Amino acid sequence: MADIRVENLHKSFGDFVAVKESNFTVADGEFFVMLGPSGCGKTTTLRMIAGLELPTSGAIHLAGEDVTFKRASARDIAFVFQLFALYPHMNVRKNISYPLENQGVPRSETRTRVEEAARILRITHLLDRSVSGLSSGDRQRVALGRAIVREPLAFMMDEPLGALDSELREVMIGELRALHDRLGATTIYVTHDQTEAMAMADKIAVMNRGSIEQFASPQEIYDRPASMFVADFIGDPAMNLIPFQAGLEVGQAHVRIAGAEIAVPTIREGVAETHLALGARPEHVALVDDGGLRGEVYGTEYLGTHQVVTVATYEGHVRAIVEAERSVRVGANVGLTFRPERLSLFDRGSGRAVSTDWSLGGPHHG
Ligand SMILES: Nc1ncnc2c1ncn2[C@@H]1O[C@H](COP(=O)(O)OP(=O)(O)O)[C@@H](O)[C@H]1O
Ligand SMILES: [Mg+2]
Repeated sequence: MADIRVENLHKSFGDFVAVKESNFTVADGEFFVMLGPSGCGKTTTLRMIAGLELPTSGAIHLAGEDVTFKRASARDIAFVFQLFALYPHMNVRKNISYPLENQGVPRSETRTRVEEAARILRITHLLDRSVSGLSSGDRQRVALGRAIVREPLAFMMDEPLGALDSELREVMIGELRALHDRLGATTIYVTHDQTEAMAMADKIAVMNRGSIEQFASPQEIYDRPASMFVADFIGDPAMNLIPFQAGLEVGQAHVRIAGAEIAVPTIREGVAETHLALGARPEHVALVDDGGLRGEVYGTEYLGTHQVVTVATYEGHVRAIVEAERSVRVGANVGLTFRPERLSLFDRGSGRAVSTDWSLGGPHHG
């Protein structure tokens, strides 16, 4: 079992808090992604788990053992950095076998393990080549080979695809996930790229300013963002956050914004009159001629499979994803309707989601 348990992990650099009371558990074999903007504390968290940085307080358990104060070399974790520093004077085989030679693994076993790693990564034909002439994708595979050849308890990856162009990144996303499905090793993967996170993760922790805003599956994070930060960070185009002011009563299933009555999931927690936001993903917004939340078409972005229509309302711009074939005239007066069961409500003061009954169907939830 190589589960990783992080308890109240805290890191300050002087007065600055880089990681705030972080708590999460990565189950054995899980692909866990820490996602958040630059500077939110991802690398610092990862370095503490790997033993490259000491926490200010809190504990880290690896495979049931408290490793908080263990040296990095005693943790059996392989770290893959963004800048995959290969040894330029060694060939591919030597680059991959290097950690095994360091550990004093016998030659014949090293050979077998390097060849197995190369086979998994489909770089067998490159084993005796120099690394200097390799493409960046192949260099990345060699770096991965060097990590997997150790057969560690867990992998830590810090933006390993950050330096690749978007086409190669897409290929590597598929390969990394396939590699994980094969090896089943517990993995913590750090990125600021939501596409990578959504495509690969079993579980995601969305981080903001040192704190975990939400820890859940990709689908739950997309469908039920726990905060406005998560709602805004995940999804492209981003979730619409339409401001309004109201109080909410338990059992209520609609809100009123600028005269339009909008059905929402049933409210579970009462909220006294305050500043709220209605969260609606663009694909859950439709354009209608009559009724709805009124506005004027501000612009359209044709994307082949669909178009993104921006509508200026009194409450700000709202984006809707509309069929590509539909003709939408800039300046036209239109209405916006929303898919009730897919809407979120947020308290703009705290930024947190208001608790609602997601399965609008009422008696069928549970
Ligand atoms: N050794 C350090 N000394 C002082 N501040 C640091 C140090 N390492 C990281 N930080 C700060 O901690 C914050 C989080 O950094 P980091 O974990 O690298 O963020 P991320 O990986 O999410 O971009 C940043 O503001 C960074 O400047
Ligand atoms: Mg970082």
